[in-house]
Amino acid sequence: MKLNPTMKAVVFGLALVASQSTYAQGLKDAYKDYFKVGVALNTRNFSEAEQKVILENYNSVTCENDMKPGELHPNEGEWRWEKADSIANWCRRNKIPMRGHCLVWHSQFANWMLRDKKGNFVKKEVFYQRLRDHIHTVVNRYKDIVYCWDVVNEAMADQQRPAWGNRPAGSPYRESDLYKLCGDEFIAKAFEFAREADPNALLFYNDYNAFDKGKSQRIFDMVKKMKDAGVPIDGIGMQGHLNIFNPSMEDFGNAIDKYATLVKHIQITELDIRANEEMGGQLNFSRQGVEIKPWVKALHTDQYAQLFKCLRKHKDVVDVVTFWNLSDRDSWVGTSNYPLLFDKDLNKKEAYNAVLKFDPALDNVSPIEDFKPSELNQPGQEYPMVNSQGYARFRVEAPQAKSVIVSLGLGGRGGTVLRKGKDGYWWGTTEGPMDEGFHYYHLTIDGGVVNDPGAKNYYGSVRWESGIEIPAHDKDFYALKNVPHGNVQKIIFHSPSTNTEREAYVYTPAGYENPTKKKGGKAVANKYPVLYLQHGWGEDETAWSNQGHANLILDNLIAEGKCEPFIIVMTYGMTNELKFGHMNEFDWTAFQKVLMDELVPYVDSHFRTIADRDHRAMAGLSMGGMETRMATLARPEVFGYWGLLSGGVYEPKDLQNIKAPKHMFLSCGSKETPDRIKKAVDDLTAAGFKATGYVSEGTAHEFLTWRRSLKEMAPLLFK
Ligand code: XIL
Repeated sequence: MKLNPTMKAVVFGLALVASQSTYAQGLKDAYKDYFKVGVALNTRNFSEAEQKVILENYNSVTCENDMKPGELHPNEGEWRWEKADSIANWCRRNKIPMRGHCLVWHSQFANWMLRDKKGNFVKKEVFYQRLRDHIHTVVNRYKDIVYCWDVVNEAMADQQRPAWGNRPAGSPYRESDLYKLCGDEFIAKAFEFAREADPNALLFYNDYNAFDKGKSQRIFDMVKKMKDAGVPIDGIGMQGHLNIFNPSMEDFGNAIDKYATLVKHIQITELDIRANEEMGGQLNFSRQGVEIKPWVKALHTDQYAQLFKCLRKHKDVVDVVTFWNLSDRDSWVGTSNYPLLFDKDLNKKEAYNAVLKFDPALDNVSPIEDFKPSELNQPGQEYPMVNSQGYARFRVEAPQAKSVIVSLGLGGRGGTVLRKGKDGYWWGTTEGPMDEGFHYYHLTIDGGVVNDPGAKNYYGSVRWESGIEIPAHDKDFYALKNVPHGNVQKIIFHSPSTNTEREAYVYTPAGYENPTKKKGGKAVANKYPVLYLQHGWGEDETAWSNQGHANLILDNLIAEGKCEPFIIVMTYGMTNELKFGHMNEFDWTAFQKVLMDELVPYVDSHFRTIADRDHRAMAGLSMGGMETRMATLARPEVFGYWGLLSGGVYEPKDLQNIKAPKHMFLSCGSKETPDRIKKAVDDLTAAGFKATGYVSEGTAHEFLTWRRSLKEMAPLLFK
């Protein structure tokens, strides 16, 4: 086929769009309105897969080592351009501008510049001449591609002895050979030479721990002194070798604010966030075999998320944020320190998504300060608290802890990381409003899982978890009100198939206490239909009445005349034994025996039930829904009404050749798979079955979905 011009345009247009969109969602695009995102590279970083990651995510490149004086210019007259050139040429071909790193540093330096053949210091004029030649040669060679230079690196001291009595304060400068020979004049000279060599490049002073209160003051004082003397310093580079515990974003933001009063350009030049607090010489470069636990990953992700939030807020002055290395594989702090956004196999970590998929709307909002104790708190406990928008706030006392994480938060972050306040408590507020309704959570303190002593406990995830309630706008339907109340009683029944004594909770509606009722003027036995109602995977027989409020939902519906009074039986579905990911090994028939051969007969013989299929229903949430599906399809003669709450669907093909139920109820939250529910109900209806679907607005796989589902399902039963 020949392409006409319009078709060509369409085809090539698509091709263009396709190739752009291959690289469209990277970090550089997410941050295009904020700052450039850069990466430090070495010559081993150019496999096809690595090039793809670089091109997708970064629009600035730094040579990790290859432009350092010691690498480029190891001896007088000896230049080694090969590696720096190859990276610069790749950047030229791909039109990615470079940061130059670095011109003067006490480490990886061309030390020959400072000394004569015998090893003695040369005169500082000789050194300046050599340095000037070096700077001019290097800066000129890369002028076309390098837009800024780290002119001086790490010239300030880590500690400074304070003044005491008559003794003056110690030197704020690092006692390097450079300093010993020249005092702080070498700093001024280096900037002057760089400006001569390229008047267009931005010139930076670069240092580590630049967020530290003391060190930031020393950096500030030095840069101020230099600028006041006319030294051409354009910006301050904050290296950014951070860890999962430190610094606080308050300190980091304060340092930026302080520098911003002095310079117009601040760059994060060497970002990585390692999983421990070791520094410099003590850094354990190889922690082979050290497993990175989920709580460490949560801290890592959160530290990145908080840092980028802080940087976005400072976008007016922050112009580039550069990661120090591409992936953990070649991180200078060691693969096992887990420092970057890409793991050792170049896979994106959670932290990558937290940095990439930020919600700008949440950057500058703070919650309304109308927090009240959660209604599920233990007696007299103030925290956790909830505000009118659905934010949750936590306060935990753990004086010796290094980290406290609450497992509850906005999706994908592994929870909310608390910070130690000046009062010694650990504090934190969810990043945004939570879904309305009930949530389980726990604390992880230095890797150990404990409950929040402020909150009551609810069985879920195969443990008694802390619970918190975000008041729902429709909470009235499960509220404890002044209406006639039924009873929830615990029963114990014998199970021959498992040879155990088993428990169940039985709700009998208000009025059950009367053995007879009047019908047509005659006293007849007061009998009730029964709903067998199952919990989910990590829950047990307590869940539906504790956190589900099944009894209150029924009390209220019955009081309003919206549903027939019926009995609810809630027993343990034997689901806790299932290991995640081993669903197909689960023996569904064990519970079916207990339920249908043992519990149903027991209930029918110990309660006044109407003991037939049309007056018996089964429903369950999540894995209890799957149990319901299996049990009802295996023995369709036992139950007449079937309900799956976030627990799958029935399809017409499931119902071929079996006795159809009187009514099926399928539901889930709008944040689950509502389309699947709608389609299943349409298909069932079209095939002539009676089915009702329900989607709980604004909720996910959680108890408000199931409370609402029970409220919608109950009126449909036994009709
Ligand atoms: C590091 C490199 O990543 C290593 O490969 C090298 O062995 C030592 O230097 N501060 C800096 C960077 O300014 O140049 C350092 O880079 C890391 C600390």
